[in-house]
Amino acid sequence: MKETELKKLLSEMTLEEKIGQLLQVAGTLYGENGLVTGDLDYFKITGEELDRAGSVLSISGAAKLKKIQDYCMGKQPHRIPQIFMLDIINGYETIYPVPLGQGATFEPEMAEKLAEMAAKEGSAAGVHVTFSPMVDLVRDARWGRVMESTGEDPYLNGEMGAAMVRGYQGQSVLDKGRMAACVKHFAGYGGAEAGRDYDTVELSERTLRDDYLPAYKRAIDEGVKLVMTSFNTLNRVPSTANSWLMKDVLREEMGFEGVLISDYGAVKELVNHGIAKDEAQAGELAIKAGVDIEMMSLSYIRHMEEQLKQGVITMEMIDASVWNVLCLKNDLGLFENPYKDASEEDEKELLLCPEHRALAREAAVKSFCLLKNEENILPFEGQEGEKIAFIGPFATSHEVFGSWSFPSDPAKMVSIKEGMEGSNKNASMTFAKGCQMFGHDFKLKDGRWFRYDASLKEPLLEEALRAAKDADKVVLCIGEHQQMTGEAASRTRLQIPEEQMELLRKVWEVNQNIVTIVFAGRPLELMEVSGWSKAVMMAWFPGCETGNAIADVLFGAKEPGGRLPMSFPYVVAQEPCYYNRFRSGRPNNGTLEQGFVMGYIDQIDKMLYPFGFGLGYTTFAYSPVSLSAQELTGEQPIIAKVTVTNTGHREGTETVQMYICDLFGSVVRPNRQLKGFTKVTLQPGESKEVSFTVTEEMFRFLNIRMDYVSEPGDCKVFIGPDSTTGNGADFVLK
Ligand code: NOJ
Repeated sequence: MKETELKKLLSEMTLEEKIGQLLQVAGTLYGENGLVTGDLDYFKITGEELDRAGSVLSISGAAKLKKIQDYCMGKQPHRIPQIFMLDIINGYETIYPVPLGQGATFEPEMAEKLAEMAAKEGSAAGVHVTFSPMVDLVRDARWGRVMESTGEDPYLNGEMGAAMVRGYQGQSVLDKGRMAACVKHFAGYGGAEAGRDYDTVELSERTLRDDYLPAYKRAIDEGVKLVMTSFNTLNRVPSTANSWLMKDVLREEMGFEGVLISDYGAVKELVNHGIAKDEAQAGELAIKAGVDIEMMSLSYIRHMEEQLKQGVITMEMIDASVWNVLCLKNDLGLFENPYKDASEEDEKELLLCPEHRALAREAAVKSFCLLKNEENILPFEGQEGEKIAFIGPFATSHEVFGSWSFPSDPAKMVSIKEGMEGSNKNASMTFAKGCQMFGHDFKLKDGRWFRYDASLKEPLLEEALRAAKDADKVVLCIGEHQQMTGEAASRTRLQIPEEQMELLRKVWEVNQNIVTIVFAGRPLELMEVSGWSKAVMMAWFPGCETGNAIADVLFGAKEPGGRLPMSFPYVVAQEPCYYNRFRSGRPNNGTLEQGFVMGYIDQIDKMLYPFGFGLGYTTFAYSPVSLSAQELTGEQPIIAKVTVTNTGHREGTETVQMYICDLFGSVVRPNRQLKGFTKVTLQPGESKEVSFTVTEEMFRFLNIRMDYVSEPGDCKVFIGPDSTTGNGADFVLK
């Protein structure tokens, strides 16, 4: 539709119709045939209100959505189509690694391809918008949603978030197989106090702007169509009612022109926050802050008309929001083609097709972070005579896709057992569960109960110990349940459930050749695990190709390619922990022998595994960093170079990371900051030069006067394999 026609449509719409466009309801309220059959009571919405809603969430399936679209358009006076939105977080049906695992790939190109694949599948299933990417900066592993982010680094998050937006949206969301992306949660949701989901966020404006906002900005610059508000308060103002944040910062400064949608029920929650006295005032605050769509609460539809009459809000406010919604519908081409790409045939052809599964498998391999590999126990030979026991609740589990994959069918995931059995290796392999996931009853977030059965403990253990005794090597497959991660899954402990740890200790008594594969959506405390294991590999939640990808790396067809996107602490009490901390007046040298220094008396001030760390199956050496110049200016960047050599015996890929450090500033600067990374694949003995461009812009920050500038002075650049590298060179920023 041309802009003039769209404007005409807006001018012809009744107030009632307009307000309806600003309501988003859950798809569960619609039945298969486009009839209202859902539990209206729960949401307390009337059928008439439902018919006015302009968008629907959490629903998919070409046939179903076409019917719902027909039904809804039939109820709209101007036959305005619905937008269907869904959380497609790590794949639609072809489930690939959770976002934290994607962060570990350090490969934005991969994140882009994965998003493109998800968009193809999701749009075939009738979905128009995905609530992804989540670029919230996460520094506290207790927060369950760290699984949904790409980690603790603003630069990595920005690169990954931008890549995902490109992958979903392509050149134009109008194109077949593309959908609109929604960056979330604006802003600062990852900063929840002590990692408690939905809790207070207090960030200085400097921290907010220097560390938290840049990744959202990258997504906006990439043309993301929607932004979602966050549930949290930011410096005592809930984001959903924060005019300064949404108008001055998001719209004015960051230049966002798309649709601003609230998070689920977040408008009404302004009452719980205690800044609105009732639902009506909650809606007033949200619309005044510029929130266009109210997701799953009824403040707008119930009270806007009256508020307009009383002059509490203006017609301009309503029109501006309706206009944003109409523009999105138009960008998606829904006025001409309300089903967009929904197609039962395409669903059959695309969902879980071999090509998509192959990409999910490659991504999984690249997300695995090998943290320890004593005596080069990995890779295995896979030859006849080699006896391997796969033990643990994850050895046979299909629940390896993270907590956000509703349309996918667990039965279609390849478990470790299935992957090994299909790997055509001659090694003899046995599989034993060993123990139950937990040692007690546990209520999963999705409402299901895990019921502990005490009578199974001994038989499961005996079977596992028999298998372990009889094997040369044990692969222990343990971790946190996928429902222990994601939304509303914050934890005070970062351990693997004790029942599984007990299994590890018992297995070690009969076989010390243990490779532990850890499934988790966050950094865990792995010190004890590492003590009992010769190799430790983080698998995160790898998705539908789990077993095949694990077979690829265990038998050496591929090497694990991941690098940690979050720091792994020794103990949970070190949280929040992240590599790019600020320098203290009482620096800690990482030992316990010092007095009166920053840190703890009972825990060295180091990470068990630092950000950026991960092993492959070969080794690399780095030359010292050489610089093209000793002075950096705004006009003249510096080229920083290293030569990387494969010093091992097989081909390998190294993730070369570049960090900068501004040694003196008018405000304290971080120890170091990631500003570049690249991958280099080398044959044994082969060397390659790797160079990075260091620019003045990389050194900008909010200085003592809150000006966003770089400050002249001594600086350093480091190039190495992880965030602790000492391979640096000095220069002066002019
Ligand atoms: C709540 C979550 O915070 C958000 O990330 C998600 O997109 C919405 N629910 C919709 O499901």
